[in-house]
Amino acid sequence: MSDDPHDDHSTFIKTPKQLIAAVVAFFAVVILLPVMFSQLVTAGRRAAPDEEMTAKLIQPVARVEMAAGGGAVTAKGAKTGEQVVAAVCGACHNAGVAGAPKVGDNAGWAPRLALGLNGLTKSAIAGKNAMPPRGGGADLTDDEIARAVAFMANKSGASFKEPPVAAK
Ligand code: HEC
Repeated sequence: MSDDPHDDHSTFIKTPKQLIAAVVAFFAVVILLPVMFSQLVTAGRRAAPDEEMTAKLIQPVARVEMAAGGGAVTAKGAKTGEQVVAAVCGACHNAGVAGAPKVGDNAGWAPRLALGLNGLTKSAIAGKNAMPPRGGGADLTDDEIARAVAFMANKSGASFKEPPVAAK
């Protein structure tokens, strides 16, 4: 039994030491937690420059591969039908992807050949059903498309004259 009634109302902080401990604990929660949290967040952000760096490091390889693909080697508009088919059209027409008439499938091409080289070229430039305009080769010239059409059709029962590549 205590004589002092104030004892019942006192807080858990009774000594200066406890006060200091309470203040330290308070700052630990209020200051350290946000600092730790923000470090977590910036650690996540630090991954971004690394990705940029990786992209820069592999870029030369990607460039060389593009050049090897023929894009940078042949002047614009100067690709033969064979080159255009190898670079663009063959992606679908070599294997008959998505219903594309396969190179060498005479029966598949026969009804289309009635359109003639010009008609088929127009069709390829405009795109048809699953085939995007210009077969997806947006930088191909009309002549290059015509050469590619002639190249594929001639391997599939037609005897079109492939438009010549202009002499340089
Ligand atoms: C993404 C796949 C794809 C690519 C790439 C592609 N084609 Fe096609 N092509 C098709 C499909 C599918 C059809 C059949 C369309 C139909 O009749 O429904 C087609 C049809 C054609 C036809 C017949 C059109 C007609 O009116 O019957 C020609 C000609 C043709 N393509 C030329 C080309 C040329 C030239 C290229 C390259 C520059 C090319 N295609 C690239 C998918 C492709």
